[in-house]
Amino acid sequence: MSQSRMCALLVVSLLSAALPAQAASLPQIKTSGVLRLATEGNYPPFNFYKNKTLSGFEVELGNALARQMGLKPVWTTVVFESLLLGLSRNRYDLVIASHGITPERLKAVDFSAPHYCSGGVLVARPGGPRTLTDLRGKVVTMGVNTTYLGYVQKLPGIAGVKTFSTTNDQLNAVLNNRADAMVLDRFNAIDASKVLPGKLQLGDIVFPERIGMAMDKNSPELVGAVNKALATLMADGTYAKLSVKYFGQDVRCPKS
Ligand code: ARG
Repeated sequence: MSQSRMCALLVVSLLSAALPAQAASLPQIKTSGVLRLATEGNYPPFNFYKNKTLSGFEVELGNALARQMGLKPVWTTVVFESLLLGLSRNRYDLVIASHGITPERLKAVDFSAPHYCSGGVLVARPGGPRTLTDLRGKVVTMGVNTTYLGYVQKLPGIAGVKTFSTTNDQLNAVLNNRADAMVLDRFNAIDASKVLPGKLQLGDIVFPERIGMAMDKNSPELVGAVNKALATLMADGTYAKLSVKYFGQDVRCPKS
């Protein structure tokens, strides 16, 4: 291959890597017959692998939503901190991975109506910090790119913040005395304390959150269709059944 041709190819491939691909429109998605969903796969009971099968509340909800829209769900799992980036590269159409709806995130992506309401709780070894004031002088561990990290970094007097990609690594840091506490979603924390009986202390909800599904900013019709399907599942009992299966209660947000 000539040198100039190689240069041209290099420029083309660099450009296509740098330029975000256009998000698929709702008509394109309908023609394909497939809804491409992404989640983390490491966040029980919301999304996790059970004997190599992706399962959890958000996975079952995502499947039900796709079916309600007449589409076949196809899943990708990606480390939490990279999920929203993949959306802007058109690697998938929708992210359902317990993202809190925040003004910062709304600058980059659109969100569905909330698919559940919850909040972050402080998790520590028994006798450890329970409240935000208890965190003064303590080392805390947070998930990379999580809302909890943003909140905790603003608190005065924290001795140190250690970030990890997965909940497991955060839990290990707390259990092995490398951190004093972590913030975890309430239902995540309940799940962890069942797996590790007597090893963890759960505090109160310190950061309430409305959790939504993220989509590309240029797909308002997709957001509309997802919201319509979610409202149907919330009205016809499908949502309540799934919620009770995973949490023993209905976790939809109270009407505002
Ligand atoms: N709700 C928190 C946030 O919005 C934590 C989400 C973590 N989700 C996950 N799949 N690891 O950042």
